[in-house]
Amino acid sequence: MRVFLTGGTGYVGSAVLDALLRAGHRVTALVRDPEKAARLTARGATTVVGELGAPKTFASALVGTEAVVHTAYEMSPRGVEKDRDAIETLLSSLTPAASGEPPTFIYTSGIWVLGNTTKAADEEMPIDPVAHVAWRPAHEQRVLDAGQNGVRTVVVRPGIVYGGSRGIVSDLLKDALNGMMRVIGPGKNRWPTVYDRDLGDLYARLLQAPGASGIYHVNDETDERVNDIVDAIADHLSQRPDIRHMPIPEARRKLGTYADALALDQRVRSPRAKALGWAPTLSSITANVPRLFEEFRRGNRS
Ligand SMILES: NC(=O)c1ccc[n+]([C@@H]2O[C@H](COP(=O)([O-])OP(=O)(O)OC[C@H]3O[C@@H](n4cnc5c(N)ncnc54)[C@H](OP(=O)(O)O)[C@@H]3O)[C@@H](O)[C@H]2O)c1
Repeated sequence: MRVFLTGGTGYVGSAVLDALLRAGHRVTALVRDPEKAARLTARGATTVVGELGAPKTFASALVGTEAVVHTAYEMSPRGVEKDRDAIETLLSSLTPAASGEPPTFIYTSGIWVLGNTTKAADEEMPIDPVAHVAWRPAHEQRVLDAGQNGVRTVVVRPGIVYGGSRGIVSDLLKDALNGMMRVIGPGKNRWPTVYDRDLGDLYARLLQAPGASGIYHVNDETDERVNDIVDAIADHLSQRPDIRHMPIPEARRKLGTYADALALDQRVRSPRAKALGWAPTLSSITANVPRLFEEFRRGNRS
């Protein structure tokens, strides 16, 4: 399949890129930085140097695309607006193939739209987004609505991603190596998590399943508590780091609405991903700490 990928240099997008290339897709990746573009080209992608907020920079690369996978997100005050505009641009570029097959659009959301879960939440669970992602449901809905206009649309809600050397869990590994780990609130909350390569695998499966549309949760369903994750990481080191539980009001002052997202207590289930044959190859952070440290160190060396 000819796939246009945004965010291919990012944490989620690079796992997706690897999985799509492994599955034999021809991927054109939108990249901001020419140096990073060269790295993606070396991995087997075609690249277009451009910017989400400037559709002219990548419009020609979208011609003839059978699927768009959108994983880019700009962490800036303009991030939400750029995401909204990008969804419109990318959706409007998709036209049915000569065979009549509908083109596919896969959007990357996240499990924080669910809010605290009172019971295990599958895709039917009503949402209750924390303030940090209060904007996100409208973007999900825009994508889902486009499914009525001849586009196969999918919204992926990954758990907190682990593996490699980026993201929230890698930050914990880094903090541990630096001797001080920080937990937002009492740490009894559970994080839904997913291994980066397993996340990439779901995107590849979604592309290959013509009937797949709608919302897909993706997490390893281990329901690990933040304290257990932090303790497992700390216990692995010969010099145990200090662990500081930061009261939520203080965390809000320092991190803003992000603090409440990190303090969410969530149990999430991914039945629709499993129905596609998806299964996590790695389950649990606590059981895989040595491996995660090794991946973290390798990632920082390369
Ligand atoms: N990481 C997680 O644990 C997690 C969990 C659930 C959901 N998600 C969601 O997944 C999405 C991606 O997250 P991530 O962790 O992969 O973030 P990330 O590592 O920061 O990657 C963001 C990607 O977007 C690209 N990008 C940013 N602004 C751009 C712009 N203006 N034009 C073109 N490309 C642009 C970045 O390119 P550069 O390399 O040039 O910066 C990078 O490739 C987000 O929507 C996030 O909320 C992430």
